[in-house]
Formats: sequence, structure tokens, C-alpha cells
Amino acid sequence: MNKIEAKKEIQQRIEKLRSEISRLRNAYHVENAPSVTDDVYDSLSRELKSLLKEYPEFNNESSNENRVAGKALDKFVKVNHKTRMLSLNDVFSFEELEEWDKRVKKLLVVSQVNYFCEVKFDGLAVSLIYEDGKFIRGATRGDGNVGEDITENLKMIDSIPLSLKPAKKNSPAFALGDLEQGTHDSLNSSLPVYLEVRGEVLMSKKTLVSLNKKNEKEGKTIFANTRNAAAGSVRQLDPQIAKERNLDFRAYDIAEVVWGEEMKNSLGPRVASLNQTLENSSFLLPNHSDKHKLLKQLGFPVDEHDAICKNLNEVEDFIKKFEKIRPDFKFGTDGIVISVDDLKLQETLGVVGKAPRYMSAFKYPAERATTIVKDVRVNVGRTGVLTPLAIFEPTLVAGSTVSKATLHNIEQIERLDLRIGDTVVIQKAGDVIPEVVEVLVKMRTGKEKKFNMPKVCPACDTKIEKKEGLVASFCPNPKCSAKNERYLDFFVSVFGIYELGPKILRRFKDEGLITDAGDIFTLQKEDIAPLDRFGEKSAENIINEINLKKKISLSKFLWALGILHVGEETARDLAQEFGTLENLISVARQDLASLSEIENIGPAVSNSLHDYFFDTHNIAFIEKLKKNGVTIEKVEKKKAGKFNGMTFVLTGALATMSRELAKEKILAHGGKVSGSVSKNTSYVVAGEEAGSKLTNAQKLGVKVLTEEEFLKML
Ligand code: IVH
Repeated sequence: MNKIEAKKEIQQRIEKLRSEISRLRNAYHVENAPSVTDDVYDSLSRELKSLLKEYPEFNNESSNENRVAGKALDKFVKVNHKTRMLSLNDVFSFEELEEWDKRVKKLLVVSQVNYFCEVKFDGLAVSLIYEDGKFIRGATRGDGNVGEDITENLKMIDSIPLSLKPAKKNSPAFALGDLEQGTHDSLNSSLPVYLEVRGEVLMSKKTLVSLNKKNEKEGKTIFANTRNAAAGSVRQLDPQIAKERNLDFRAYDIAEVVWGEEMKNSLGPRVASLNQTLENSSFLLPNHSDKHKLLKQLGFPVDEHDAICKNLNEVEDFIKKFEKIRPDFKFGTDGIVISVDDLKLQETLGVVGKAPRYMSAFKYPAERATTIVKDVRVNVGRTGVLTPLAIFEPTLVAGSTVSKATLHNIEQIERLDLRIGDTVVIQKAGDVIPEVVEVLVKMRTGKEKKFNMPKVCPACDTKIEKKEGLVASFCPNPKCSAKNERYLDFFVSVFGIYELGPKILRRFKDEGLITDAGDIFTLQKEDIAPLDRFGEKSAENIINEINLKKKISLSKFLWALGILHVGEETARDLAQEFGTLENLISVARQDLASLSEIENIGPAVSNSLHDYFFDTHNIAFIEKLKKNGVTIEKVEKKKAGKFNGMTFVLTGALATMSRELAKEKILAHGGKVSGSVSKNTSYVVAGEEAGSKLTNAQKLGVKVLTEEEFLKML
């Protein structure tokens, strides 16, 4: 591709991005029916922004990205905002935050700035107007200049005060006026005559769950998140709907406050914006944090998670601390808003475009992002299963950079209709392998290519097989190098031989020291020590660890064999049931029916066991392991434990023992431990800083135990 063609392609991509972003904006802000999550929208916007930075010639002033989102719906009366409702510039990492901090200090020519940190709510921004202490009008943000009058709906929200609480003259709110002693006397009332509050209409996560449950039953809209639900509830012509939806409100800003009649008169009928008011009046609120205090004084609900931070370290600590609370926080949040606390400094910094320079929104890592599929490759797993992988440019998602995502199998590719060259949505949650969840079909240029599964194994050229009833394709070759490599890695990790990482194993294989997992146990110090970059000490460590791990429980041994469908749990069930490997082998080879009768063992597992133990290669491998010194511990037949039939989920940090130990204790009493909460979970044991598992338990009505309660049960 020559330069001109490459540039043309970039221009095309920019245009595609623009139109897709516009479409999503419209779906979100106008139709209240978002088709993707915010992360996806953000990710596309980020790509557009960075392309435009690199190719400013494609900038277009009148393009959507230079405007604040939202458009007043015709069905509501339009309201002009006296003070524009702005947006925030986002930062996605501490590095970006540090850049912002540097810029702020450089512009202000100072070396220290106080920052105010507060929660960034995921709801609907509204402006509330109070005259003489009475709520007279409320509006949505709309496009920032013109919003929609939703007063009647807002009146249905209990936490929005209809009349303000007079702030006592000797109260902290008034103390704010300490700046200019004497001017207090001109105030004949402790209520502002004019007040414009900004805040967020919210729906709690709990309310969303029950609303969706109800709506599902009635075949009505299911809301993707609390923000859409809050927005959808308030942008309705019938206020009854807002009333029924159990909405909430949190105030976070004062756009304008005017104290006393004289003040209002002196400023004329058009009450000036806060900043102008500040210039003209002596009733200065010195800091953003003081606005919060005043809001509380006047009876507004203000979130308590806020802090004045003296430096960026404190800001970062605040962000980290809230991140832990966030999963269990009552409302949906997507970050932290950081403001320069001093309002005069805010004014100095001013607004550029649609966002103030004195505020920044730190966004928590996106769990979803968009990227372009460069290629689809096929990975051969330890059991020979072929897994297609989408390969893309390194992309930041959920705090880490990823460059591939699993596509699971060919059916998934067909379901997604994924083609090479497609723009896709990828998702990563916690430690889970990232996956492709959606193709943005509208981003296609026509050059995308379909992908077909290979007919032969990409590692060993053996013809691929499909097993009946299964979606996956397999490489059947027992000597397949890719399969064996994966299996080796898996084997040593189940055996807990941590000294042997994948790189070392590859090296040993290349040096001819091992051909399969069985050879690991005959390795000698003298084999390893002469190798480049090893030496006596590390050779000794490796050998010591191998010897230490030669003795293994039956359940781990079974798991380590890597039998298809026999994971950690199933291996444990089998070990409990059969007690010895010999018992299991003889039943698996002869009596398929009785295998299927065992609790938790379905036909897929029993067929797989049957196939595995009939294969002479596998029996030879087991014999080799034993011959080379692996000893399998016998299992005591299951005692009638008090936790029989119960499944526990552990979450958070326990004070008196590690989670590993707690797991052992549960297993010893006949119980099971699972990694995720479902309706079949008997108990969730919640330690300190328990996370989403606790929330799930509460959602599903699963009994939650404190550590103390759990200890009593033992
Ligand atoms: S401050 C300058 N504080 O975030 C305008 N905004 O991305 C920002 N938001 O439209 C006002 N929580 O809907 C502020 N504690 C908070 C917020 C917050 C949520 C929303 C608000 C705004 C959007 C900008």
C-alpha cells in the first residue's frame, strides 16, 4: 500500500468511526436505548481522538465529537441553561492524571494545589432551580445549553428537597461567608433567593435488579445499567413512572447561588452565573468542597465519599480506596471526579471547548473496548482441542493490555459473524481470558475476510477430527508438539512444580532432556547444572522441588492427566468415589453404565474416561509416571461430613486463616468450594473487602456467613 492509499484508509476509518459514534450517541442520548456499553463508546471515541491527533487534517469543527451529547426531546418543554452544563475530560490511567496535574500547576504557576475528589455517579445529570427556597424547575442537560423540563418527574424523587432547609446563621454554611465579615448583615434570610444545583438522578443497583426482574416477566424493556434505567424513568411524560421507580438523587455542584433580594436586584433580572456572581459579590464560596458543605446544609443528599487531597498521591489513594468499595456501592459509578478545590483557581483555569480544565474524570479500567481483528489464529490446547483466537493491536481493557482474545470455537465465530478486519468489542472481567463479544458490523469497509477452521492441525499437519455432540475440533495425534507443550505446562502446574516454568520446560525439551511429562521425574542435577544460565544452585532447587512433589493426592493426579472434561472438581469427585486409581481404571474400562450413576458424573465425563483408559498410550504414560517415582496417595473413603451436599463460596480476606486453608477445612467436612455464586450455592463466606461475589449472593438470596459464623460451623 502506498502512502496515499494508507492515508485514504485512515480517512475512511475516521469517517466510519464518526458515523458509528453518532449513531451510538443518538441511540443513547435521544432514544434511551443504548446498543453497546459506555466502555465501547469510549473506546471508539478514544480511537477517533488519537487518529485526529495524529492526522489533524481530518479534523472537522462541526463534527459531533466537538459537541456535548444530548438533544431535548420534543415532548418536553425546552429550558435554556443559564450556566452551560459542561462535560468532563476523562483520564484512563494514573499517568494521564499526572499529566493533567502537571498542566494544571504549570498553568497556575504553582507547585501545590488542593484537589477535591468525589464519586462520579453513573446516572442522569440534572439542574435544579430554587427560588426563595422553593424548587421551581428541574431540567436535563440536553446538549449543555438547552435541556428538557422534567420538573414534575423530579418532584417524584424523595431525596430532591422541594423546599430548602434554612442554614442557621451560625452554622458552617454561613461560616463560609467569614471571608467578608459585615456583609452577613445585609442578608435578611439564611436561604438563598436563587440557587441552581447540579446533581445526578440515580437508580440503585438493587432497584435495577428488581425492576428488570419485573419487566422481564411483563415483557417490558430490560435496562442495561442503572444510568439508562434512571434516564429512562425520568424522561417520561407520566410522572407516575418516576414515582414508581424508586429513584434517588445526589447533589455535586452549585452552578449559581444568590443571597438576599438586594443582591438579586443589583445583578439585574438575568442573574449572573456563579462565576460572575463571585466577581460581583462578597459572598464567595472559596472552595468546591465548601459547595458540598453548603449543599448538605441546605438539605441536599451529598455522597460522603469525598476528600480534599493535598497532592496527587493522596488523589491516587482515594481512587484506589474507592475502587475497593465500588462493587458494593449502592449506585453505579464509573470513576472519580477530581477538581481543583479553590474556585478562584478554577476560574483562572477556565473552560476549553466543552470541558473545564480544572476538573478531570478518572475512569476506572474499562471492561470492554473496541479493536480491529488483524488475524484469526488457531491454538492447540493440551487436550488437542483447537481454539480460534482473534489477534489484534495491543488494546487496553480492564487495566491491562491484551492482544488476543478467545473465539472459543467455529460456532461462536459464525454466531458473531466475525471476519478478519472487523472492528469488534472485546471484554475482560477480572482474570478471565478476554473474549470477543460483538462485531460492529456498521464499521465494515467491505475488505473483511471470512475465516475457516483449518482442515489439518496447524502444529503437526494431522487431519482434524470432530467428536460427536461436541462443537470443538481436535488434533488426534498423541505426538502433536503443540498439544504436548501445553500439556507439559499444565502438568507441572497441577503438580505444583513451580520451578519449571514454560520457558525452562521448552529448553529441557530442546536439549533432549525430556520428551514427555514422565521424564521430569528422572531428571538429575547433573543433567541441568551444565546448561547455559543454570548452574549448581538452580539445578539443585529444581531437583529438590521435583522430589518434593512426587507424592500427590489421587484427585490431583487425575486432574493432572488432563482427561477431557475432567477438571479439578470432577477429579475430586472421582477420587472420593473410587479411592484408588486402579479401581477407577477397571470400572472406566468395563462398566460405563455404573460410571454415569455417580453423582456429578454425566455421560460426557464417563465417555471421556472410558476412551482415555482404553488408550494404551495413556496407560503406558501412567505406568511411566509410577515407575519414575510418582506415588499416589490413597483416599480415605468419604466420611459422612457435616458439610455433605453443601457448596461454599469464599470471598474477601479472612482474618484467621487463608482462603486456601478455609477451602481445605470445608473439603475435609465433605463440602464443596466453588469460585462463583449461583442459586445452588449453600453459603457465601464473606471476609474483609468482599467483592462482587457478595453482591451476587445478596441478589440471589444466598445465605451470607461472616467469618465468625463460619468458624462456629466448623
Ligand atoms: S461535576 C463539569 N461531579 O459526569 C461538569 N459530574 O462526564 C461535570 N457526573 O455531566 C460536573 N458524578 O452527569 C460532576 N460527582 C460528579 C459527577 C458528575 C457524575 C456526571 C455528570 C456530568 C458527567 C460528565
